[in-house]
Order: sequence, then structure tokens, then C-alpha cells
Amino acid sequence: MKKIPYGRQNITKEDISSVVRVLESDWLTQGPSIKIFEDAFANYVSSKYAIAVSNGTAALHLNAMAMGIKPGDKVITTPITFVASANCVRYCGGEVVFADIDPDSYLIDINNVRELLEKDTKGEIKGIIPVNLAGQSVDMEAFRKLADEFGCWIIEDACHSPGGYFENSVGDKIKSGSGKYADLAIFSFHPVKHIAAGEGGMITTNDESLYKKILNLRTHGIQQDYSKRIYNNSVWYYEMQELGFNYRLTDIQAALGNSQLQRADEGLNKRKRIAKMYNEYFKDKNYIKGHSKFVEGHAYHLYIIEVDNRDELLLYLRGKNIFVQAHYIPVHLMPYYRYRGWKENDFPKAENYYSKCMSLPIYPTLKDDEFNYVTETIDNFFLR
Ligand SMILES: Cc1ncc(COP(=O)(O)O)c(C=O)c1O
Repeated sequence: MKKIPYGRQNITKEDISSVVRVLESDWLTQGPSIKIFEDAFANYVSSKYAIAVSNGTAALHLNAMAMGIKPGDKVITTPITFVASANCVRYCGGEVVFADIDPDSYLIDINNVRELLEKDTKGEIKGIIPVNLAGQSVDMEAFRKLADEFGCWIIEDACHSPGGYFENSVGDKIKSGSGKYADLAIFSFHPVKHIAAGEGGMITTNDESLYKKILNLRTHGIQQDYSKRIYNNSVWYYEMQELGFNYRLTDIQAALGNSQLQRADEGLNKRKRIAKMYNEYFKDKNYIKGHSKFVEGHAYHLYIIEVDNRDELLLYLRGKNIFVQAHYIPVHLMPYYRYRGWKENDFPKAENYYSKCMSLPIYPTLKDDEFNYVTETIDNFFLR
């Protein structure tokens, strides 16, 4: 059996032709492909605005800047996420406050977030960064209500859930990144994600002023004001208003991302089918201590199981060419965050989850015989 990773990209001939078309055009970057991708992506997630950037981490950084995080400000996120969800707060000099997870959904526990906000009598907590871990959207409506109660903003880390949704209190399907409840949302186009662009990211929002601010920050804080060009009687006049970056996506990446976006729903349905097959397979296995639930709007970037002898199983599977992973090592236990005062047992539910979790192969091109090989190999491990 060839190597089976936990996730992988799916590149088609159409993807390759769209990249080649850009390579043969006049624009490798800052050309028309970016706006085409942004408009199509905004349409896909039902947001008003979308801004393409160089990766998901850059998207988080720009969002943290746009929300005005400054030294002394505190922001809540989950320890069960990729480090970037927390690091964006540190880039701006803010402090990260972690909340424990709900052990059933593996998502940030809104009750724990409320407790933290209630204890914050000085009003130092300015925002919340909920993460749609594995592809399951948090209840963004409930988070919005909570955030409003305490005057906080929300950045939705939707890297795992493009195309995913949750049902709000009146039964509407609210897409990840739609901007209905969160101020800003971010996505990543790393190859293991639903839409691969090599590297890449997207910011979505319904707020015009945030949109304009982030557009400037993406390109060095430079405003392209054509009236000023004439005013200054210069053919190449530009004005830097604030400190920004070069976080642009290239047209090559945008063409790949846009071509992938056209097949996004097809990929989502394949992921859902595999998640259902795992759920069916594991339902009577007593070695399984927990697993991803079947939730309609789940985008299944990851399919997670919990087992007691996780490390042993992980090595066993790798020996059989199945490259599973554990998502994620709790962020507060990273040496960098331990140095800032976090320690073992700070978040017992997150740490217990991490000791058991494993992400199984799930991606649109996973074949049925590969699925059977994965599940049978897990069975063999426990029946040895
Ligand atoms: C939840 C989450 N947030 C942020 C990121 C950062 O995205 P990127 O790798 O594109 O910088 C990732 C990427 O793995 C992620 O999984």
C-alpha cells in the first residue's frame, strides 16, 4: 500500500491549465486573478468582502492589527488549535488568554469563555478568536451575544471550515466566514486544507471600514490615491499612511485557488461521505473513546478519534505507511507560552483530549480500499 497521509491536495488538469494561463500572461502578481478569486470566495462564503493574502497566519496578523490589539490587551482563544491562532495576538504585543474546550465537540467552551469575561473586571479582554476546529463551526450567534455583552470583537478562525456552516436559532444556515456574526474571519490555502494554493489565505468581512483598512495593511499601508498623483504632479506617486506589510498573494496562487474553489462543494461531499463511513465503522468499537460527530454543516478538514494508547497506535500506523497526526499539541504547553506562565493542568479537558486524539486520513481522493486498509489496520492493532 502506498503512503496514506491524513490529508492531501487534489490537483487536476484544469488547475494546472489555470496556473499556466497566468504564467503566460502579463501578470504574475497584482493582476486580475486576485480580484476574481476574492469575488468568487466572498460569494462562496456569503460575505460582502474578501481579501486574498499570502497565508492564513498573515490573515490573522492583519486582522489582529485591524482590531487594534495593543500591549496590555488580552484576547481569548482555544489551546487546541494551530499556534497561529494565538500568535497573532502576540505579534501586536497583546496577551493570549486560553479557555478550555468542550470535550464532546473539541471546540472552545463558551461557558469557560464567559467565566473568563466575568472575572475580567478591568475590561482588559478585548476580543475572542474562536476556531472551527476540524471543520465544525462554533455557534457564532452565541459567541456574538456573549461578545456584545462584554464589548468584545470576534475574529473567526475558519481555516478548517470553508463551505461549512452552523444553524442559528431561527434555523438559518450560517456559513463559516459569512461575517453575519464575526467581525472578521480567516482561511488558509495550505495544501492539506480544502482549497490548496501552495500557500495562501483569505480574510472575509461585512465591514467596509475593516475591509479598506486591511487592503492598505496588505500592501505596506500604502494608499493608491489617484487624485493625489495628479495633485503632486507625479506619474509615480504613492503615500504610506501607516505601517503595513507585503502580505499579497500572487496571481499564480490565486488562479490555483480559484480553480480549486470551483470544486470545493464536490470535495466537501466526499469528505462527508468518508466521515459517515468512519462513524459507521467505529460505532461499536470499544477501543474508541470518542470521535468526530456527524454534524450536517461540518466541513471535515479532520476526522478525529480518541484512543487510550495514542502514541503506540500512531507509530504502529506509520510503520504500515499510514501517516496519521495528532491535532494539536495544546498551544499553552509550547515552550514559548510556558515561558509566559502557562503550565500543565491549566486546561485539563484540552490536555486529556490531546493525550488521546488522532486525525485519520480524510481527503477527496481517498479511495475505498485505502479507507478499508486504514480501518482494518487500526482493528489489527487493538486485536493483536
Ligand atoms: C486553525 C488554523 N489557523 C491558522 C493557520 C495558519 O494558516 P497558514 O498555515 O496558511 O499560515 C492554520 C494552518 O495550519 C490553522 O490550521
